[in-house]
Amino acid sequence: MRHKQGRLARAGNPLGENRTVTAQDRHDSAEHRLGTVGVAARPVGAREATAANLAWWDADADDYQAEHGAFLGDADFVWCPEGLREADAALLGDVRGRRVVEIGCGQAACARWLAASGAHPVALDLSGGMLRHAKQANARTGIDIPLLQASAEELPLATGSMDAACSAFGALPFVASPRTVFAELHRVLRPGSPWVFSVTHPMRWIFPDDPGPNGLTATQPYFDRTPYVEVDAEGRATYVEYHRTLGDWVRALTSAGFVLEDLVEPEWPEGHSRVWGQWSPLRGKLFPGTAIFVTRRADR
Ligand SMILES: C[S@@+](CC[C@H](N)C(=O)[O-])C[C@H]1O[C@@H](n2cnc3c(N)ncnc32)[C@H](O)[C@@H]1O
Repeated sequence: MRHKQGRLARAGNPLGENRTVTAQDRHDSAEHRLGTVGVAARPVGAREATAANLAWWDADADDYQAEHGAFLGDADFVWCPEGLREADAALLGDVRGRRVVEIGCGQAACARWLAASGAHPVALDLSGGMLRHAKQANARTGIDIPLLQASAEELPLATGSMDAACSAFGALPFVASPRTVFAELHRVLRPGSPWVFSVTHPMRWIFPDDPGPNGLTATQPYFDRTPYVEVDAEGRATYVEYHRTLGDWVRALTSAGFVLEDLVEPEWPEGHSRVWGQWSPLRGKLFPGTAIFVTRRADR
């Protein structure tokens, strides 16, 4: 999966209960390193969430790239596990000559595709582990993208310095306040600039995080915004992920000064058999797995 979204919390356990981690999957190594022992349902503020996610993505970076690197490519712009590509969707419009910031870039494959398409990208991520992979891919491809280590909540970019922004599942599911990120993007983007980002489709929150038949029965309220939190033995967060309803996303965007132009829900393509965590052909044929918000910074 693109990230862990509720993998343990919503495997059928009641909300609010701590639960022992027993699932064997590729996240075991990072969980072991971070001392994750269970999940909790409790509020998590910005500072704790950002610290937990920095530690998580550093610990998981090598495994993430080992599992998904080939699918994502070195210089390719894949929006989601359904495999929708910017080369086909053109959600950012004509990027030639544009200064584009990729938020939560991981290995920065999207930024490299943008550079090859004539844009002038910079790629930003919280995790030094992820950026190490981005640096290696820069060297491998000869496409030398400027890399910035920072949180999307505080962009180290000048006001009005960017012509477009994008994110493929980067940062937004993991920050306590998307409004903070949107306010920062509003600051750094020129009026009228596109801001396009993909996240897990909010309706997936109600289902157990399972690519098989168990992932077809609703078990959790759509309206419950309590984040999914994994904790260590002392109760400290080791991974945090937030749920926002569709309305939450729209309100956060519009109140920050963005105009919503489209909401793309990529359909599962015929013949696409690759499972990514909870994204599978079985579920993809029944309901959406990804929401891509196509927005533009208002002119004023
Ligand atoms: C699911 S990965 C997606 C990476 C890449 N965009 C891709 O498509 O593979 C999420 C990324 O968001 C980054 N991230 C998490 N919290 C962040 C934050 N507050 N600011 C910037 N990046 C963040 C992680 O380090 C990680 O690289």
